[in-house]
Amino acid sequence: MSQIRSLFATRLYRAALSEHAPAIDADEMAASCYSIAEDDEAGQDWCEQNGYPGYTSYASLTDLPWRFPIFGDLVKSLDVHVAAFAEDLEFDLGDRSLVLEDIWINILPEGGTHSSHIHPHSVISGTTYVAMPDGASALKLEDPRLPMMMAAPTRRKDCREELRPFIYETPKVGDVLLWESWLRHEVPMNMSEEERISVSFNYKWD
Ligand SMILES: [Fe+2]
Repeated sequence: MSQIRSLFATRLYRAALSEHAPAIDADEMAASCYSIAEDDEAGQDWCEQNGYPGYTSYASLTDLPWRFPIFGDLVKSLDVHVAAFAEDLEFDLGDRSLVLEDIWINILPEGGTHSSHIHPHSVISGTTYVAMPDGASALKLEDPRLPMMMAAPTRRKDCREELRPFIYETPKVGDVLLWESWLRHEVPMNMSEEERISVSFNYKWD
């Protein structure tokens, strides 16, 4: 009797934020993101100098959860989601735990993209979605073994999910996605006239 198993799993966590904690009001969160973006001149300058479409607080603001209570509430919820994912991953964390390292806002206008990248030095990375208008880009995740597959045939278009080299995950407002930080991902072009707003974060082993 032959036996075929899947090995070397790459896990993707998706849940509604409200599954583990009180829901975060998406409109209030969007309004907070816009008001922070408007006041953050250092961040606006950084985006302009680095050709970043729209706005990110990544390079300019390191204390969102301490300055803005809604971000403090969000982090309390994220801590629980990340702990649940670490449980699924069966990490042996010893006497240390996974703690928030960075959290930042992304406001992506029509035509904006965020090219393929990983999050070095972190263990778990993720995003929660604040505004996802119709046509807003999915998150594109890439098989980490892709560079080793140069001579392999491509897969059939309708092949099952675990065999696909790319996954396009379209979250809903209020959802949180988590993945291991080494997993390469990108945000393809935002085809919506409206802005796509998300809050991304890294957790480190501390
Ligand atoms: Fe990212």
